[in-house]
Amino acid sequence: MNIILIGPPGAGKGTQAHILEEKYGMIQLSTGDMLRASIKAQQPLGLQAKSLMDAGKLVSDDIMIGLIKERIAQPDCGKGFILDGFPRTVPQAEALDNMLAEQGKKLNAVIELKVDEAALIERVSGRYTCAKCGAGYHDKFKPTKVAGTCDVCGNHEFTRRPDDNAETMKTRLKAFNDQTAPILPHYKAKGLLKSVDGMTGMETVTRAIEAALKP
Ligand code: AP5
Repeated sequence: MNIILIGPPGAGKGTQAHILEEKYGMIQLSTGDMLRASIKAQQPLGLQAKSLMDAGKLVSDDIMIGLIKERIAQPDCGKGFILDGFPRTVPQAEALDNMLAEQGKKLNAVIELKVDEAALIERVSGRYTCAKCGAGYHDKFKPTKVAGTCDVCGNHEFTRRPDDNAETMKTRLKAFNDQTAPILPHYKAKGLLKSVDGMTGMETVTRAIEAALKP
């Protein structure tokens, strides 16, 4: 099954993609994670993207389309994929249609996660990640079981994203409302769009997504 998770920053796309990947073996394709890995490796792509990401602005369509086109052609995506953070503009959605047609693949569903703005700000402000294995946590909603120790790998160092602050969130939310929300009618017209209430707990959201994916 090939699906897209769409939602504003902090809606829970990465959290749900990770859960679905673990449960069903589909591959999570997070363009944000790909860009952050490229920044960490000091690759030209990452160096080009960093200032835009830190400011909460979108990276150019050409770069993002090239990145996903190459990635979904790889054999592991044959198991099914979850797009998390792509497409984010109308040109990206159109390019995705073309690349899927070229590769003989199809989309099964587009899940929109709906979350209020105040909750989004609370979610990104409290988010942190294990510096070693990348496991994701939240100060209030998903703390580590033992304070200061990663549940997954036992590491004691954590990172917070430079774009996870109230000021940058204003730009990120504007980018979502102005550039990403306009792609929803594109998928509604194709009969692929399903809206899920993302305001509930993580497990309830997963169950709602699973229900939406049933034929
Ligand atoms: P990206 O990394 O995609 O960030 P985003 O869309 O802003 O989304 P987030 O990762 O912030 O949120 P999420 O929805 O995954 O939430 P999460 O599950 O972590 O993009 C970053 C930047 O890269 C962009 O600004 C842009 O510059 C660039 N970029 C990326 N893709 C691009 C593209 N296609 N085109 C152009 N530019 C692109 O959850 C957040 C927190 O809330 C976590 O701590 C989690 O534990 C908690 N949480 C999750 N679910 C719940 C719940 N149900 N209840 C309570 N807490 C919850």
